[in-house]
Amino acid sequence: MRDSAAFVPELDFVGEVDGEIIANIMCAKSKIARPDGDKLAILTFGPVSVKPEWHGRRFGAEIIRHSLDCARDLDYGAVIIVGHPQYYPRFGFKPANGYGLTMPDGGTFAAFMALELKRGYLGAAGGKWHADKVFEINITAFSEWNKVFQARRK
Ligand SMILES: CC(C)(COP(=O)(O)OP(=O)(O)OC[C@H]1O[C@@H](n2cnc3c(N)ncnc32)[C@H](O)[C@@H]1OP(=O)(O)O)[C@@H](O)C(=O)NCCC(=O)NCCS
Repeated sequence: MRDSAAFVPELDFVGEVDGEIIANIMCAKSKIARPDGDKLAILTFGPVSVKPEWHGRRFGAEIIRHSLDCARDLDYGAVIIVGHPQYYPRFGFKPANGYGLTMPDGGTFAAFMALELKRGYLGAAGGKWHADKVFEINITAFSEWNKVFQARRK
């Protein structure tokens, strides 16, 4: 992900406790294609993770809020994610279809959410969200990587 032109190095954070990395969040630029052909620059975060033994102690909330605050300081106007619909509303995320936004195929679902960092940034024109290709997962490569990861955790 860090080799991608869409990656935002200023928004690449880890959380540490006593020198141990227990959380991370990364961001990439993405865009909305308006029906009239215009493009609107936005941000997408992910992966965001907290080590399982540290779950439920607000480290996730803290690193997400920090990332969103920094994104606002860097002048990004909005963030669009696909994530747990029970978790992200606490940060202000709302269903993206409320802004007239859809996936590239025109579909929408509860996990597809948007947050305006600048009020009114998403406007009313709607459009299709295009995540950067860095978020496309090669399932075969992922499965191979995951085997290594599982082995290391034992
Ligand atoms: C999602 C994640 C980052 C949250 O981190 P965390 O430090 O445990 O979260 P916090 O302590 O800030 O918040 C805990 C709350 O999140 C909720 N939550 C955690 N995982 C959730 C999930 N998968 N779906 C819905 N809610 C979830 C908990 O129920 C809890 O709710 P409450 O505040 O109402 O009690 C962490 O669970 C994680 O790393 N999960 C695995 C990776 C992942 O799923 N990443 C997100 C991809 S969209």
